Amino acid sequence: GTPEPVSPTGQDTGADPLRDAQGGEHLTTAHGARRSDTDHSLKAGRRGPVLLQDHHFREKVSHFDHERIPERVVHARGAGAHGVFRGYGTAERISAAHVFKKDVETPVFVRFSTVLGSRGSADLARDTRGFATKFYTAEGTWDLVGNNIPVFFIQDAIKFPDVVHAAKPHPDREIPQAQSAHDTFWDFVSLHTEAQHHTIWNMSDRGIPRSYRTMEGFGVHTFRLVDDDGRSVLVKFHWKPKLGVHSVLWEEALLANGADPDVHRRDLADAIEAGAFPEWELGVQVFEDNEEQMFRGIDLLDPTKIVPEELAPVEPIGLMTLNRNPSNYFAETEQVAFNPNNLVRGIDVTNDPLLQGRLFSYLDTQLSRLGGPNWTQLPINRPHAPVNDMLRDGMHQTAVHTGVAPYHPNSLDGNNPFPADEPARPFIDVPAPVAGSVKERGAPVSFEDHFTQARLFWLSMSDVEKEHIARAYAFELGKCWEQAVKERQLQALANIDEKLCAAVAQSLGLPAPKPTVKHGRIAPSPALSQVGGQWPLD
Ligand code: HEM
Repeated sequence: GTPEPVSPTGQDTGADPLRDAQGGEHLTTAHGARRSDTDHSLKAGRRGPVLLQDHHFREKVSHFDHERIPERVVHARGAGAHGVFRGYGTAERISAAHVFKKDVETPVFVRFSTVLGSRGSADLARDTRGFATKFYTAEGTWDLVGNNIPVFFIQDAIKFPDVVHAAKPHPDREIPQAQSAHDTFWDFVSLHTEAQHHTIWNMSDRGIPRSYRTMEGFGVHTFRLVDDDGRSVLVKFHWKPKLGVHSVLWEEALLANGADPDVHRRDLADAIEAGAFPEWELGVQVFEDNEEQMFRGIDLLDPTKIVPEELAPVEPIGLMTLNRNPSNYFAETEQVAFNPNNLVRGIDVTNDPLLQGRLFSYLDTQLSRLGGPNWTQLPINRPHAPVNDMLRDGMHQTAVHTGVAPYHPNSLDGNNPFPADEPARPFIDVPAPVAGSVKERGAPVSFEDHFTQARLFWLSMSDVEKEHIARAYAFELGKCWEQAVKERQLQALANIDEKLCAAVAQSLGLPAPKPTVKHGRIAPSPALSQVGGQWPLD
C-alpha cells in the first residue's frame, strides 16, 4: 500500500517519501543547515527585540502559519486505512479490468467519512457516510467513490451546491455542526421531494452506524463494465461487510459523541492495530446495457432509485481487507484525492446526470484544496502503474521532466513516439448512442416518482426499526422553527406512509395531513407490478 519510493520522474530515489522526509540525524533548517537551538529566538540582547535576521525563527513560524489546507467542501471529517483487494475472477466474463482477475491482488486505500460536519466534528452524527476506495491497479488508478446509503438526495448534479448549502450549518450562527436538524435542510427535502428516499435512510438506523467496519458501501450510480471485445453491461456496485450491518441506538450515539467524538476513527484504527482486519466483499448487480437503461421499470440512470436485491442478486466479485493504518494522517487521509473520473480499462460511466456532474466537480475542487494541478505527485495519490502523461509544470511541480517534446507523436525525444505495440491495453470507450436536442434542461418522466421507493424502504422495516425512524423524524423536525416547513415535511411523510406520518405528527403536536399521492399507484414502479402488483411487504 505505501507508494513506491519512486520520484515523479519515475526514477527510484531509494527513499520512502512517507517516512524519510525528516530522517536527518541533526536538527536543521528546511535547507539542511544545522541548528543547535530551536527554543530561543535571536534577540538584540537577552531582553531585546527579535531580529529580522533570525531566519530559523521566521521559517519555523511561517511554515506553521501555512500548515492548514482547506478542508473538503463536503466529507471533511474522515478516517482512512490501507489494504488489499483480491479478485475472485467472477467478473472476468463481463469486464476487462485487471483488478477483477482471479487472485490478482491490488493495493487499496479507503477513506470513510461523514458528509456534513467539519474536520473536527463528532463521528456519530446522524448523517450519510462516505465510503471511498482507491484501487492502485497495475493498469492505473480506479476510484470507487461511494456512500453507505444506496441512493442520493438529488438526481442532477446542478443541485448539489443547493442541497449542501441547505444541509450545512446555518450561515448566521454556524449551527448545527454536523446534524441536518434545521430548517434549511427540511425546507429543501420537503420542496425537492426526490430527496425523501435518501432522507428516510438517514432517519433509519443506517444513519448512525455502529462502526465503519459494519457498514455497507454502494457505488450508487449505475456504471458500465466492458469486456475485451467491447461488449458492455450495466452494474451497481455493493460492498458487503463480513461483520454484518450494525447500528447504534440514538441515545448511544449521543453518549458516544459526548464521551468520545472519535469513536469511529478510533474503532477502525484499534481493530487494524489488533489484527482484526475488517473485510468487505465487493459485488455487482448486473443489467443488460440496452438503449432504455431500465431494469424492470426501474430507471437505472436515476440515483434516487435502488434495484431490490430480490430482483437482481448481488454477485460477489472480490474481497477487500483493510490491514494497515496510515502512518501520517495529513499525508494520507487528508491529502488523498478521490475522483469518479479515475477509471481504468474495463470500467466506465453512464449518463446518470448526477454522475456526469461529479466528473467535473472532484477534479475542480481539488485544484483549490490541494493547491494546483499536481496532486497526483503526492505519495498517496501516485498511481502504481507507469506514467507518461505529457503534462508539464504548474504549481507544486516536483518532477524534473526530461526531453523537449511533450507531444505525441514527435521525432525528437527518444521515449516518443510510444513503442509500436503500445498502448497494449488502452481504455475502452463504449460507442453508446446519443439522441436528443441540446436545448433540454428537463428530466425523464421516470424521475418524477419520488415516493414509491421511500415507501418500499419503510415497509421493509421491522416494528422496532419503524419506531426508530418515526422517533428520528420527530427529534430532527422538532428542532425546526418554521411551522410551514414541518407541515410540508409531514405532507411528504403522508405520501410515504400514513402511519409514519401520524406518529411523527403526534410527537410534533400537529395534525396529520392526508396523502396527495395514491400509495403504490401513482407512478408505480413496474418492477413492483411484475412481482405481483403488490407492495412486497403489505
Ligand atoms: C467528496 C461521495 C455526489 C462533490 C465525496 C466523498 C465521497 C463522496 C465518499 C469523500 C471522498 C474522500 O473521502 O475524500 C459521493 C456520492 C455521491 C456524491 C456517493 C452521489 C452518488 C456528489 C456530487 C458532487 C459531489 C453530485 C458535485 C456536483 C464532492 C466534492 C467532494 C466530495 C466537491 C470533496 C472532494 C475533495 O475535496 O477531495 N463525495 N458524492 N459529490 N464530493 Fe461527492
